Amino acid sequence: MKTLLHLNSSPRGNYSVSRKLSSEVVAAWKAKNPEGKVIERDLAKSHLTFIDLDWIMGAFTPPESHSEAHKKALAVSDELVAELLASDVILIGTPMYNFAVSAALKAWIDHIVRSGKTFSYKPNGVEGHAGGRKVIVTVASGGVYAGTPLEAYDHEIPYLRHILGFIGISDVTFIQAGGTGGVAQGKISEAEFGRHGSVRSSTAKKRSYERRRALISAVNAAG
Ligand SMILES: Cc1cc2nc3c(=O)[nH]c(=O)nc-3n(C[C@H](O)[C@H](O)[C@H](O)COP(=O)(O)O)c2cc1C
Repeated sequence: MKTLLHLNSSPRGNYSVSRKLSSEVVAAWKAKNPEGKVIERDLAKSHLTFIDLDWIMGAFTPPESHSEAHKKALAVSDELVAELLASDVILIGTPMYNFAVSAALKAWIDHIVRSGKTFSYKPNGVEGHAGGRKVIVTVASGGVYAGTPLEAYDHEIPYLRHILGFIGISDVTFIQAGGTGGVAQGKISEAEFGRHGSVRSSTAKKRSYERRRALISAVNAAG
């Protein structure tokens, strides 16, 4: 039985575009894997702890020397790492905040990038231990970055690609919904955004069509 780990980090509930898209991915994946298991983790609600001194002391010392404080600090991280390593597909729904990932998603990343568990330093460099699984990311942003002069401002997608690669995951597909600002400003209805993208233009229609195609092919490739 396959397992899909579904993370969401937008606090905007039903207004969230990244959530809407990631739930479409879940529905498509479930249709393809009726026996599959979906683990839901809402990072916007779970308020993960940040890395502190006990976490660092515990993560970089052998378990047999851990104090109760080290164990307590690492418990969440241990759970999140185990959840990740038990999954076949990881689906991340995320907004762009200040050109990067949200703090909620970054807190999850800080917990799962664990020396000796998801990566190790070797004489010839870093070895990732989380390979062999696929990641799909649905990203919503107010602006449009892909294929525009603003592309260099996007520090979210290159960062996610890099940090997932660091732990050994190179099979990452991004489904981007740029231009959600138009919905907030009342320039386009939510329904129309869903259908056509950021503005009423042939470019937006093409972008929306490509997003649907990317979503379907990402789910097909995820198996
Ligand atoms: C605090 C904050 C920071 C944001 N920073 C950016 C940004 O740097 N670039 C951008 O294009 N949109 C930015 N936005 C807009 C969001 O990315 C946009 O509303 C997106 O749709 C949020 O994802 P969601 O719909 O899944 O909640 C920001 C929004 C907020 C609330």
